[in-house]
Amino acid sequence: MTYQSSLRAVGIEFDDAALEATVRQGLQVVESALQAAVRSEDEFVADVAKYLVDAGGKRFRPLLTLLAAQFGDAGADTDAVVMSAVVCELTHLATLYHDDVMDEATVRRGATAANTRWSNTIAILTGDFLFARASDILADLGPEAVRIQARTFERLVTGQIRETVGPKPGVDPIEHYLSVLADKTGSLIATAAEFGARFAGVDEQTVDCLRAFGEQFGIAFQISDDILDIASDTGQSGKTPGTDLREGVQTLPVLYALQGTDPAGQRLRELVSRPLADDCEHAEALSLLRSSEALEQARHTMLEYADSARATIAGLPELPATAALRALADLVVLRSG
Ligand code: IPE
Ligand code: IPE
Ligand code: MG
Ligand code: MG
Repeated sequence: MTYQSSLRAVGIEFDDAALEATVRQGLQVVESALQAAVRSEDEFVADVAKYLVDAGGKRFRPLLTLLAAQFGDAGADTDAVVMSAVVCELTHLATLYHDDVMDEATVRRGATAANTRWSNTIAILTGDFLFARASDILADLGPEAVRIQARTFERLVTGQIRETVGPKPGVDPIEHYLSVLADKTGSLIATAAEFGARFAGVDEQTVDCLRAFGEQFGIAFQISDDILDIASDTGQSGKTPGTDLREGVQTLPVLYALQGTDPAGQRLRELVSRPLADDCEHAEALSLLRSSEALEQARHTMLEYADSARATIAGLPELPATAALRALADLVVLRSG
């Protein structure tokens, strides 16, 4: 997949042709800058670092940066907007290399995951290489951008750690999980929106709204990703279905299933209370979950976050970009509906 198809991959419908052309062109510039950012004089490092860039991806964090920038002055520093979008995609990419090691994933963006194709060591170090490149670009964007990124990254990894460790005794697992999603996924998506707005000279109040949109949208997006892990196939997600179940990561549908008390759900509860390495048990759990009430409950919670994302921008001026952000919120719901 290339940047040309990335808008289609995100699936966002633009009502406004001028906005679509601007965003399309912006994504093209982001794409070239991203390619440049992963280059290395070391041929092997260059190959592994560009591997996931070339494999595809929706690029929706850069898309959000470009949309948020629409709320600023036309004469804003478009270079800084573009480079901040590159920083977000690089950070996201780096976390994917690391996340696939954590999840022992075999497929990513429709390609063999880097940890499987090379090794855990190579995947981890390549993730670090990409973080280094993101930091290099940030240095040119100024100390405030460096700080925003550092704090975002802190929240992201804290979220990943909190997911790994699980809730403390006495803490509601669903509350814990939703707060993990805000940290591990909402944080970077919120920053993608904030960067676009800030570098386009948007006023503080609007920056806050756009940031809040990113955070709420990010939570809905991660719930939709969790639903897709259960409900979709590799063709749709570019990943192996049921990875969370295999690894014993209790995502929202599983947590809702575990909350149930009816005897009919007993077998599902028994299965999802542990990692499922056995292929038969894994297939059985996937099939039970697909038709479960718990999956519907997770969809309902996702809808609430998508609604909340839309509400954060209700007070913003009605620009073509405002409609595009709402379309993005609709899409997250549709893709896993
Ligand atoms: C995957 O993100 C990781 C999550 C936060 C759910 P994306 O679904 O944006 O992955 P790509 O960039 O399109 O591959
Ligand atoms: C990890 O979540 C998302 C990050 C913040 C890195 P997942 O483990 O659900 O992401 P996928 O499904 O592997 O893309
Ligand atoms: Mg994963
Ligand atoms: Mg996932």
